[in-house]
Amino acid sequence: MFQIKNLKVDVNEKHILQGVSLKIKPGEIHVVMGPNGSGKSTLANAIAGNPKYKTTDGKIALGGEDLTHARPDHRAQKGILLAFQYPKEIPGVSVLNFLQTAHKAICKARKIAPMNPIEFRKALRERLAKFGLDATFMNRSMNEGFSGGEKKKLEMIQLSFLEPKIAIIDEIDSGLDIDALKVIAGGIKFLAYGGRGVLLITHYKRILQYLKPDFIHVMVCGRIVKSGSHKLADELERKGYKNIHHKTSS
Ligand SMILES: Nc1ncnc2c1ncn2[C@@H]1O[C@H](COP(=O)(O)OP(=O)(O)OP(=O)(O)O)[C@@H](O)[C@H]1O
Ligand SMILES: [Mg+2]
Repeated sequence: MFQIKNLKVDVNEKHILQGVSLKIKPGEIHVVMGPNGSGKSTLANAIAGNPKYKTTDGKIALGGEDLTHARPDHRAQKGILLAFQYPKEIPGVSVLNFLQTAHKAICKARKIAPMNPIEFRKALRERLAKFGLDATFMNRSMNEGFSGGEKKKLEMIQLSFLEPKIAIIDEIDSGLDIDALKVIAGGIKFLAYGGRGVLLITHYKRILQYLKPDFIHVMVCGRIVKSGSHKLADELERKGYKNIHHKTSS
């Protein structure tokens, strides 16, 4: 189980997270929604261990191991992995090379045998097809000239190769067409079916209809002010964030 308890985080000396608690069991999909600037991406960065985000109080633990002050690479080895809101372009490094290097590094850190180059190429070809991308993507430079939707699909493929225990996915659904949205939602469900926990940050209800998350949490001003079932998304749409201020659980 992944657990954060009373997490307080400062960015540039500013108190952003004011005590956030969450428990995510293997296979569960949790969604965080909330107004712009409420601290959602800060939460994602703090969990991943981005050094700009200073944890001043509280605890982050995975499978009983305290990772509150662990280095980001150590967290990734343990299986805490973050998909980025704005994936970076890496000119001159092919998708195949980039993903295979990442795969090897994570296998080395976890002391398991990586796939050999032929197996990896085959696995990547299959995953590209699953996400509706043709095999030529393998040899293109990582994210260079990719459309927004293509970058996000690649981001999901990358996550799937890194075998997360807890995948944190920040706004992957912004700017996706309807078909891409279904494909991405399928990829997220696939992660969860494999017994991984998912923490998904989104502004839109539409991805939730394909996902049926276990919990929705509403973040306002650095706090989770309400948690509930997927039905909470309908309530939010009707009432807006201003009228949701009743803390029920955390
Ligand atoms: N690196 C940073 N430097 C300065 N301020 C930051 C930094 N990261 C976050 N903040 C501030 O922290 C607050 C929360 O930002 P955050 O990105 O977590 O919001 P968010 O909920 O993800 O918003 P959005 O829905 O717009 O993505 C904002 O006021 C933001 O300006
Ligand atoms: Mg954000």
